[in-house]
This record gives sequence, structure tokens and C-alpha cells, in this order.
Amino acid sequence: MPQQDWTRVDDYIAAALISKDESQQATLAANARENLPAIDVSPPQGKLLQLLASAIGARRILEIGTLGGYSTIWLARAVGDGGRVVTFELDSRHAEVAKANIAREGVSGRVDLRVGPALEMLPLLESEGPEPFDLAFIDADKPSNAAYFAYALKLSRPGALIIVDNVVREGTVADPSSADGGALGARALFEAVAAEKRVEATAVQTVGAKGWDGFLIARVK
Ligand code: SAH
Ligand code: DHB
Ligand code: MG
Repeated sequence: MPQQDWTRVDDYIAAALISKDESQQATLAANARENLPAIDVSPPQGKLLQLLASAIGARRILEIGTLGGYSTIWLARAVGDGGRVVTFELDSRHAEVAKANIAREGVSGRVDLRVGPALEMLPLLESEGPEPFDLAFIDADKPSNAAYFAYALKLSRPGALIIVDNVVREGTVADPSSADGGALGARALFEAVAAEKRVEATAVQTVGAKGWDGFLIARVK
């Protein structure tokens, strides 16, 4: 696989279209220093999330899987002052790194970071009767994707976008012989979305610095 070529083109795109102020170099450096896995979305993908959120005027965003807050910060920039990103992270060490990154980028006031297993904490969020979300970004443990999608749908307004990362996994999603947890999680998600009349959806494959993968994007009717 021409990974080097995909990375070279991602670097080109970022150099051309993502300014130094936007690029969060300090966030990525802090994540590396703290030995977080380098599984954040790529810079062009982060900016895509921001653009999609801005395009629908999202003010309230639900994120599952914070890691070091790289995607969180892209999303927090889109919601503007008074907007909110509620983000869930299982690992308290990841969450500490994220908190510092989010503070450095000046968006702490827009981010509600909750630490613990998302499937245990989503019912709590639901019980708070939150204002509906405009966008959800699902990017945590892949076997739970269908369950996360169900929550995102329940907590979203009509017209909301639900975006799920890592649904292609080097093509294993479409390889029936693959029993990889990520592939099984992705397939369960596709089946759940296909059966769900309340959304219209597609998925797009991506190549780039993060390999061959893809996003599922659903719009709540
Ligand atoms: N969205 C981030 C990357 C997230 S990586 C970005 O693009 O910058 C996936 C994260 O999900 C990891 O930090 C992992 O600890 C977290 N995670 C895994 N299982 C989880 C669970 N059950 N609940 C909440 N977070 C979980
Ligand atoms: C993994 C998780 C991600 O969210 C990602 O974008 C890439 C890889 C993983 O768990 O391997
Ligand atoms: Mg991901």
C-alpha cells in the first residue's frame, strides 16, 4: 500500500490549506510526549469535521472518544462562544492530556469532558434531559459503534449529522472472512444504520496519513 504517497499528499493538503494557528502542533506534540497512541484524526480530517459542524451551524456536539482532544478542539472551534462539545473518554490519563490541550487552545469553556466508559455514562447524560445535539462524532471502541449510534440518534435533533470514524479499516469491513473486532463493529453499524428509517446515510473511504479507512455520515431526518 502506498502509505508514503498518502502521507505526502496529506502533508501537501495541510501545508496549503491549514494555517499554523489551526494546526494544533502543540496538541500533537503533547500527545506524543505523553505516549498517547497516534490515532487522532488527521489534520485534513479534523478540518473536515470543523467545516461540517460549521456548515450546519452546530452549537451542540456530542463526541465519543476524546483521546488527547485533537478532534474535540476542531469541533469546539466550530461551535463558537456559548457552544458546547460534550466528549466522553474512558482513560483518565488521556483525559488529563486532553484537558491541558483544550485549555491551551482556549476552548475549555466550550468543552464538557466526561471520564468513564461511554456506554455507562450516556444514560446519565440522557437523564439530564439535554438540549438536542446538532452533531455527533463517534470515535471510541469500535465494537460499541452500533450502540453509540443509537444513543447519538436518540439525543439528536432532526437535521443533525452523526459521523462515525474508522468504518472501513483497510477494507476489512467488506471482507466476510475478517473477524477483526473493528470490522465486525463496523458491519454491525452498517446493518443498524441500514435498518434505521429515521436517518439517511452514506460512507466514504479515505486514504491519508492515517492509512486506508473511512467515515460513515448519517443525517437525522
Ligand atoms: N477522537 C480522537 C481519537 C479517539 S481514539 C481524535 O481524533 O483526536 C479513541 C479513544 O476512545 C481512546 O482515547 C480510548 O481510550 C477511548 N475509548 C475506548 N473505549 C472507550 C469507552 N468505552 N468509552 C469512552 N472512551 C473510550
Ligand atoms: C484505532 C482507533 C481509532 O479511532 C483510529 O482512528 C485508528 C485506530 C485503533 O483503536 O486502532
Ligand atoms: Mg478514529
